[in-house]
Amino acid sequence: MPADTNSNGDIFGGWLLSQMDLGGAVFARNLAHSRVATVAIEAMSFIHPVLVGDIVTCFASLQSIGRTSMKIDLEAWVQRHTDGPLHRVTEGLFTYVAIDEAGRPHPVRR
Ligand SMILES: CC(C)(COP(=O)(O)OP(=O)(O)OC[C@H]1O[C@@H](n2cnc3c(N)ncnc32)[C@H](O)[C@@H]1OP(=O)(O)O)[C@@H](O)C(=O)NCCC(=O)NCCS
Repeated sequence: MPADTNSNGDIFGGWLLSQMDLGGAVFARNLAHSRVATVAIEAMSFIHPVLVGDIVTCFASLQSIGRTSMKIDLEAWVQRHTDGPLHRVTEGLFTYVAIDEAGRPHPVRR
């Protein structure tokens, strides 16, 4: 939406990153069967700009799982025109930690 643009008129990168973080958190929560917190974002690349009106989809895949943490590859893809192809616009490696009700790390329950 226009409210999400930067000074170039493209979609603000922080908005896109937050959508990826939200999507990854849902994926991680379902894996861990508990609350999760984002602890790190690595290797974040903005490959192509996102334009107002683009339809954004985030794809998540598990890269590795530790004792309490999960590393999740996230990519955002956009569809620019109705029925058009999807283009990959970002990628990043997000780490989530399974946390208990007090916000302390606890082992991932699988
Ligand atoms: C997430 C949090 C509870 C982890 O606490 P912590 O004291 O760092 O916990 P630990 O040192 O035991 O680390 C927990 C796991 O995270 C991993 N980790 C910690 N810091 C990391 C980093 N910078 N990068 C990658 N992994 C990291 C550890 O390797 C460990 O993984 P493992 O158990 O699978 O081996 C704490 O850092 C926190 O609350 N951070 C703020 C989270 C937040 O507000 N996020 C934004 C909104 S969701």
